[in-house]
Amino acid sequence: MMNSLQKPEPLTWIELDRAALHHNIQVLRQGAAHGGQAPLLCVMVKGNGYGHGLIAATRCFLEAGVEWLGVHDIFELQDLRAAGIEAPVYIVGHLSPQQVPFAVALGARFVLYDGEVLAAASAAARQQSVTARVHIKVETGNNRQGLRHDAALAMARAVAADPHLELEGFATHFADIEDTTNHRFAHEQLDRFTACVDAVRQELSLPPAGHPDDKLLAHASNTAALLLWPEVCGRLVRCGIGAYGLWPSKETYLSVCQLGRNPVELRPALTWKTVIAQVRDVPVGEYVGYGRTFRAVRPTRIAILPIGYYDGYDRGLSNVAKVLIAGQRAPVIGRIAMNMTAVDVTDSPVARAGSEVVLLGGQTGADGSDGDRISAEEMAGWLGTIHYEVTTRIAERIERRIVG
Ligand SMILES: Cc1ncc(COP(=O)(O)O)c(C=O)c1O
Repeated sequence: MMNSLQKPEPLTWIELDRAALHHNIQVLRQGAAHGGQAPLLCVMVKGNGYGHGLIAATRCFLEAGVEWLGVHDIFELQDLRAAGIEAPVYIVGHLSPQQVPFAVALGARFVLYDGEVLAAASAAARQQSVTARVHIKVETGNNRQGLRHDAALAMARAVAADPHLELEGFATHFADIEDTTNHRFAHEQLDRFTACVDAVRQELSLPPAGHPDDKLLAHASNTAALLLWPEVCGRLVRCGIGAYGLWPSKETYLSVCQLGRNPVELRPALTWKTVIAQVRDVPVGEYVGYGRTFRAVRPTRIAILPIGYYDGYDRGLSNVAKVLIAGQRAPVIGRIAMNMTAVDVTDSPVARAGSEVVLLGGQTGADGSDGDRISAEEMAGWLGTIHYEVTTRIAERIERRIVG
């Protein structure tokens, strides 16, 4: 009997707009190429592809010609390889010495700032008869992971002297580039980074930056840096948020305008959908949900949505958020529960059990006209957080469907 049944349809899912992802990669690639040299694009797919779905998003990025993928840890790398994705992968997060042989076996390059990891990488590469490619992280102002100038030089010497290791890159990460329109600190970080990389080149007799024989990948740029200063991109850019169609911040947008440049058009790629489970009428004076935080002051028609904070629809959105039904806004009322959310649909006459609801993203009107949009930035504003957090916290279990 069970065999004759089809798979149950999910009641909430993510639609990933392939064309939007392709567009963003093209735009970012063009931007980065303004620096003169076209750098390798390393798109960060950590955090479940910023919540867009690790495998689904990665496949779209690879179709768009992305060269490298950036992950946080060994487990994301394993997931990529298990899905048959063989593209170069760079691990930016912490690897324990015990995890290092797995990273080496899967051909990853990884960030290096620790002597024990260096020893583990050398031993693993020797045992596996391969060369482990490492990127030394330089401390320039973030105080996570990096080595200060002299320690970075010493690490570079140790890597260069080890026949099982290749010093493929040097990296740093901006501490204060998105949150401000004053980029003095970011420039100071760049200066420290450049001084350190130059010293390494000199000490190890490597060709200078820009030389045809230069193979060292010195990389600092994330999306904000790429948009602000394409000329400093170097040979590799670690780009995250922009690839998903979101500006890093209002400040970044403003800063690009202040530099006299036309801000590029990025296209958000994620739409989070669900369906109405039930519509019911609530008489005046009755309450909705836990804690009785909503009381009907008019005869109220409500829709129950089969999603809650377990799905990543944050409880902080209770009585605050709006959803879209037929392209129009309807307010979330009462407390968001673990698996259920109530919406006031008194003014949404088309709302029925089974109607499609958009929690995040755009929706056309009932007549096919342009409807409204709830952006990740707006939702982040409701929650007092950043849009990076909004998308990455959408539960991994929810299906990501590539559309377009
Ligand atoms: C080391 C590193 N590089 C690059 C990025 C990408 O940053 P963005 O998403 O702002 O482009 C991140 C994101 O957190 C990161 O941790």
